[in-house]
Amino acid sequence: MLNDVKEVLVSEEEIASKVLELANKISTDFENKELVVIGVLKGANVFVADLIRKISIPIELDFMAISSYGSSTVSSGVVKIQKDLDASIEGKYVLVVEDIIDTGLTLSYLTENLKSRGAKEIAICTLLDKPERRKAHIDVNYKGFNIPDEFVVGYGIDYAERYRNLPFVGILKEETYQ
Ligand code: IMP
Ligand code: MG
Repeated sequence: MLNDVKEVLVSEEEIASKVLELANKISTDFENKELVVIGVLKGANVFVADLIRKISIPIELDFMAISSYGSSTVSSGVVKIQKDLDASIEGKYVLVVEDIIDTGLTLSYLTENLKSRGAKEIAICTLLDKPERRKAHIDVNYKGFNIPDEFVVGYGIDYAERYRNLPFVGILKEETYQ
């Protein structure tokens, strides 16, 4: 698995200190507010698990699974809800937690969908962002790292369902997916 990685882009240590920084901000910003943290499966699973354990205010945790990629490395723009929320978000503050924003098409669909359910406010938190690739405008409230236009894996992020268990974010060697 490690042999397929060309370069470590964000180390375990860098991720851990960023997670703490983001969680502290979130804890301050949503103090005394009813916050629902929504992890976008499967990619954000590792990030959301670490993030919520550094958030010091009461939260509810829920998950959604949406498909955008299949096993290709290019966004299709086709978004499908595979697993919906368990509970209503009406009147609540919502924090959507994503692994990576690429074109923004997935999150743009998702935020519109969540708005229509009567959430009081929707904020976005992403570990990684590829701003060069954006096709839909997204207001990112909490961001870990801007990264270049490279295909990355690790810390929950996959290529064809593999590499999610790498503890860092790395760039995959091209020959791995060509
Ligand atoms: P978007 O709709 O193009 O913003 O796609 C966002 C989703 O595509 C993310 O939640 C990831 O699941 C996936 N994705 C985008 N870039 C990468 C990457 O570099 N590696 C793995 N998955 C990615
Ligand atoms: Mg994803």
